[in-house]
Formats: sequence, structure tokens, C-alpha cells
Amino acid sequence: MKASVDCQAPWEWMGNLDRRLNDWSRPKRQERHRRLVVVSNRLPITMSEDGTGSLQVRPSSGGLVTALSPVLRYNGGLWVGWSGATANVYLDGHLDEASIQLGCSLEAVTLSEKEVNDYYLGFANQVLWPLFHDFPECCKFDPGYWYTYVDVNRKFAQVAARISTADDYIWVQDYHLLLLARELRGIGVRRQTGFFLHTPFPPLEIFRRLPWGRQIIKALLNYHLVGFQTHHDRDNFIGCVEKTIPGVHYENTGRLIVVNDGNHRTAVGAFPISIDFSAFETLAMSREVEERANHLREAVSNCQIILGVDRLDYSKGIPLKLRAYRAFLERFSHLRGRVTMVQIVVPSRDHIPQYRAVRAEVDDLVRQINESLGTPGWTPVHYMYGTLDRPELVALYRAAAVALVTPVKDGMNLVAKEYCAANVDNDGVLVLSEFAGAASQMRGKALTVNPHDIDGVANALYRAHGMPASERRLRMRGLRSLVRRRDIRWWSDLFLRSAEEALYMGT
Ligand code: UDP
Ligand code: G6P
Repeated sequence: MKASVDCQAPWEWMGNLDRRLNDWSRPKRQERHRRLVVVSNRLPITMSEDGTGSLQVRPSSGGLVTALSPVLRYNGGLWVGWSGATANVYLDGHLDEASIQLGCSLEAVTLSEKEVNDYYLGFANQVLWPLFHDFPECCKFDPGYWYTYVDVNRKFAQVAARISTADDYIWVQDYHLLLLARELRGIGVRRQTGFFLHTPFPPLEIFRRLPWGRQIIKALLNYHLVGFQTHHDRDNFIGCVEKTIPGVHYENTGRLIVVNDGNHRTAVGAFPISIDFSAFETLAMSREVEERANHLREAVSNCQIILGVDRLDYSKGIPLKLRAYRAFLERFSHLRGRVTMVQIVVPSRDHIPQYRAVRAEVDDLVRQINESLGTPGWTPVHYMYGTLDRPELVALYRAAAVALVTPVKDGMNLVAKEYCAANVDNDGVLVLSEFAGAASQMRGKALTVNPHDIDGVANALYRAHGMPASERRLRMRGLRSLVRRRDIRWWSDLFLRSAEEALYMGT
């Protein structure tokens, strides 16, 4: 496997390949009236200065970019986000090239070092991220972070205002930009706005610790439509609204709940995000991927592959997963030499101490397991810290007998869905944490586990290992059919249709 952290030609991975393989060549739906303007912290490409003055350009990591790239390719429109750079370097050439390949225009926002530190690393990733993932002990409630967060939200709002017209639909993504609609109104710009949260939304007893919670709830009510991954997240949000703003009125219209705080009407709903199923399926069926998958199986001496693919994050529960795998090998020792774990860990947010601590813990555990249980002919854990390109990743999905997806908290988890889409032989087993948003759709067909229950996960691995082919097929067919029906096109159509509905409901 080849690490490609500094990818030289992201276009091939991001654009050409997807375009060649995905099936959004289905007839284009009727042109929407409104142009789509997606605003997220990340653009699908990230640029960084490498110290010698030259720019590195690479695909951005994470599920948000995987999910939204095909949405923009299909709908067209404009994508506004942080360039990754902290200086006013000349970006236009890179952006133009990426725009052509991605099939949408890109507008880059540049942040200063202070903004990156206080808004991105600070408020977004050391306040909101840990709070929304039930890690309040990791929160740094620094007022300086909050002030910069407000300023950067205003900065994004100003860019969105400048590049959009009154007829556009501004679709804001994720926890970095909770205040954007409020800031747009603040500068006197009226637009139709929607917001989608890719992370979980916490229950009141966690959310109320946030010193700026009331401002955030009120700011979110400036959007016309606010979307969450699951009904559970939506209900947590409604619980926080009820508590923070007494006297609000609700109308339940079925799919949407309309919240009226006396100033605004905001529609709220649940929209479980997904993947471009057919792009993953088509790629998995390609000869190139099939050959790579066979090669991977041979490279591990035909041991059953148990696969983990996670961005480096404490919310992904990687150390717990390794401990459960060790318990599995200790308890079912006859399976040593017959299974192997492949764990890919994608580098992420490595300026934040907790992320560096997780990396050290994972390195340690992998070393301990391999030293204590490995034999000259068998490595219990094949570990890679880096990023795979899409064909390599899909080949691994196809080669793996089991996917072990055990976050302690996750908005959705697209890896779980990608594994199923790529499992064209219908012979894989998905072991899935009950705390991933994906469990709300996949429970019953996946083997659901509590990632804190080390023995429970070890037993689930044993069950997956010995599962009869007929049961594997039945479960995987069900999973694949679900992801095929509820794919990314279904998700974006549902959200954008709901946005139109919200408009008619006077939001
Ligand atoms: N991914 C990738 N290369 C890798 C490993 C992962 O492109 O080497 C992608 C993967 O295909 C998925 C995303 O990273 O789309 C992870 O999304 P997920 O929702 O599982 O978690 P997130 O990182 O957004 O928290
Ligand atoms: C998660 C978040 C995204 C984020 C991604 C990668 O998926 O929901 O908003 O883009 O992680 O994290 P990063 O900090 O590198 O953007």
C-alpha cells in the first residue's frame, strides 16, 4: 500500500476518476431555479505552504468532502471554503484547475494564523467538536476562541454575500459555521439559507456547559432550514431550543418541525447523509480494483482481513478497537494466523494535543499487540498512518471479510456505507458501533456493538469470522440495498426539496 499524504495530482483521484466511474450520468434533473452555493470550512482541496515557499495541493480528508463533491458535480454551483493557506499566496491557477475537474466553481477564503488557531483549532475543534461528541473534558472554553469564531463566521458571510445573488440558495455545512446566517442578516443581506450539521448534536445536559450556547441556538434559528443526521440529534436540538428560548412555538408537519421564536420561523429535520453508491460500486467492480483486492488477500497469506479505516480522532475509538481485537485473539487463540487486522489511520488536526496523544496510544498498542502475539509468519495488525487514494481504499474494502467501525460517537460514518457499496461479492460483515449515526439505519443488518464493551466487540468479531455464507449474503444484500436507495443523491434531493417546502411554510 502506498501512502500519499502529499498527493501531487489530486485531480485524478477527486475528479476524473469519479467522473469516469460514477453514475450521476443518470438524466440530469430539471434545472433548479436557485444556484447552489455551498459554504463549508473545508474546500475539497487543501493547500499548504511547505516551508520552501511552494504550494502543496492535496484532496481534503473527511466525510464532508466525500459526500458533497458529487452533489456539486451533479447540481453545479459554487463551493466556498478555507483554502488551507494562511497567507495571501496566489491561488487562482490551482483553484481554476480544481474547479474544472470538480465540475463546480471554487471560492477560497484565506485565514490568518490567528484565525486558524482560535477559530479552526480553537473554537471549532477544541470546543464544539469535543462537546458535540460527548467529550466535554476535552473542551477549552477560551473566550478568545469565541470572539474569533464570531469574526470568522462574519468573514465567511461577507464572502458568501459578495459572490451570491438574492436568487441563490446558500447551503452552509457543519459546526464551523453555525453563525453564518445570523452574520448575513447582520450585514443586511437576505438569502435563502440552509444548514446541515455533519456531527451529532448533544443532549441539553452536555450542551448547557457551553458558555455561548444561547447565542448559538438563537443564531441557528436564523437559517430557514436546519438539518441533522438523525432524529435523535434533531430532538436533542429541539430540547436545547425549548430550554434556552422559553415561549417558542412548534408545528410538526411530519418530516419537518417548524420552530417559531417570535422573530423567525425555522424548519428542522433529520437527513442521514450518504455516499455516491454507484461510484463506489462501479469502482469496486473494475478489473483494476479486483486485481488489487486479490493481491491484498495474497499479501496477507489469505488470512481473513478485519478492516479499520478512521481519521485520527478520539471520537473514533481506535484504541478501544485495538484492545477488543487483542481480547479476541487472546480468547479465540486458534484463530491466530487465520485473521489479520488492517488499520488505516488518516492524519488529522495534529496541532491539537489530544490528537497527538491518540496517535501515540495507537502506535503503542499496535506495537504491543504485534510484539506479544505476532509470529515469524504472521503479523496481527498491519497499520498505516496516511491516506489511501480511492482505488486503493476500495480494493481494501473489497478484500476485507469484516469491517470494524467502532466510533464512540460519530455523526454518520461514511466508511460503514462505503464498505457496503464496495462489497459487490456480498460476503462481508459490517461490525458497527451503536453510537455511529449510521446505526440508526443499519441496525439489524450490521452486527451492532457497544465500543466500550471490549468482550462484546471481541465476541462480535468471533461471530463475524464464523458467520455462514448464507447469513453474510442476506445481511450484506440488505445493507447494500439500503445504501443504494438512500444514496447521496437521495440525501441532497431530500434536503433541497425540504428547503423549498420550508420556503412555502413561511420560514
Ligand atoms: N478516506 C479516504 N482515504 C483514506 C481513508 C478514508 O479518502 O485513506 C475517506 C473515506 O472514503 C470517507 C472519509 O475519508 O469518505 C471518512 O469519512 P467518515 O464519515 O467515515 O468520517 P470523518 O472523517 O468524516 O469523521
Ligand atoms: C469531519 C467534519 C468535517 C471535516 C472533516 C475533516 O468529517 O465533520 O467538517 O472537514 O472531519 O476534518 P478537518 O478538520 O481536516 O476539516
